[in-house]
Amino acid sequence: MKTLNFTFYRPTQLLFGENNIERLPTLIQKEQKILLLYGGGSIKKNGIYDRTKQALTGYHVVEFGGIEANPHYETCMNAVAIVKQEHIDLILAVGGGSVMDAAKFIGLASKLPDTADPWQSAVLESGQCQDAVPIAVIPTLAATGSEMNAGFVISNIGLQEKRAGGNSLVIPKFAIMEPSATLSCDARQTSNGIADAYVHVLEQYLTQDQGETLQSYWAEGVLKTILAVAPRLMANLQDVDARGIFMHAATMALNGMISMGVSSDWATHMIGHELTILYGIDHGRSLTIVMPNLWRVRREAKLGRLAQYGRNVLGLTGTDSEVADQAITATQVFFQSIKMPITLSEAGISSDAIDRISQKVADRGDSFGEDGKVDSSMIKEILTLSK
Ligand code: NZQ
Ligand code: ZN
Repeated sequence: MKTLNFTFYRPTQLLFGENNIERLPTLIQKEQKILLLYGGGSIKKNGIYDRTKQALTGYHVVEFGGIEANPHYETCMNAVAIVKQEHIDLILAVGGGSVMDAAKFIGLASKLPDTADPWQSAVLESGQCQDAVPIAVIPTLAATGSEMNAGFVISNIGLQEKRAGGNSLVIPKFAIMEPSATLSCDARQTSNGIADAYVHVLEQYLTQDQGETLQSYWAEGVLKTILAVAPRLMANLQDVDARGIFMHAATMALNGMISMGVSSDWATHMIGHELTILYGIDHGRSLTIVMPNLWRVRREAKLGRLAQYGRNVLGLTGTDSEVADQAITATQVFFQSIKMPITLSEAGISSDAIDRISQKVADRGDSFGEDGKVDSSMIKEILTLSK
């Protein structure tokens, strides 16, 4: 057990609950120039766009739509040009994690000198950035926790790379969290979000033996909340109370609270990102295929944690070994209950993905996981089990 040692900084003002969009004028100075950033148009169908524009009456607002799911570097760079040209003071992202992530990258890249390579400087080495255009968000899909963290994931289509960046300068200044804004998410988007948030917690909880720390109990609480609310949500997508409970849990799942001072895994995500960039699979669906089989391959290293998860979250009983195996199976059953794939073939991905991804990781010399041991050969084992 290592002693606690961490820095926690999350300066996001959360305005949680209905009718908060109308409070925008209390959060933004009149003279600020705003870039209103959004995706493919869902906000124009569900009324969020109209309410946001109405609230920003009298402000200088420049709009940029078309941010893709799994945001493209190339599209974001078009927005960077506008932010520079219009001397934007605040980027207001209205949408899901892809739009919020794009805003963060754009905020960093817009402050780079023209001589810099934005992919290198504002993604791969984003932690070094010293300046950013401030970000604020109105999330419309509960999943990523991007509304209250420093992270973002950008896909470079030209390079066929989907990579994560992060910098505390782009932690959203405020997040207007209206559960009703997520009511228009369909079953697929909703289950993607449930899976993503659930796996976020497990990436930070199911690592070295953290023992019975406060972080563990917080994490177990978020996991139990998601397990309890998921069936309600999948049974009635219009259950705004359930939407709110899940939206809150998804934010707390990845705002840094449960990872204070403890190790994190993230190998499932790193492998999942390769599945998404190479095969176009939704982020959440890549995770439900990989995580249970990563646990099977890493069973010995994670046995104690798997048993703790099985007992404290899933209510399983038996020896550590029995509970660990039951916990893996029970997690797959949960993913199937929200209509998520647990194999590559279910997601329409052929087994050539196994060599393709493990070779790509080998070529980059990468290895992942809390102990850096998830290398290309282990990835091959994990994906072979996932066929
Ligand atoms: O583009 P629009 O028209 O808005 O449609 C979106 C998109 O097609 C739609 N949608 C969003 N809100 C909606 C809605 N449709 C109807 N009603 C609404 N209220 O849903 C589709 C998917 O949206 P997207 O933003 O891509 O989903 P999500 O929020 O799951 O974000 C996924 C992205 O987040 C990254 C992923 O890699 C992926 O690129 N992640 C970000 C993280 C972070 N910043 O901490 C961590 C995560 O692990 C994740 O990697
Ligand atoms: Zn995720």
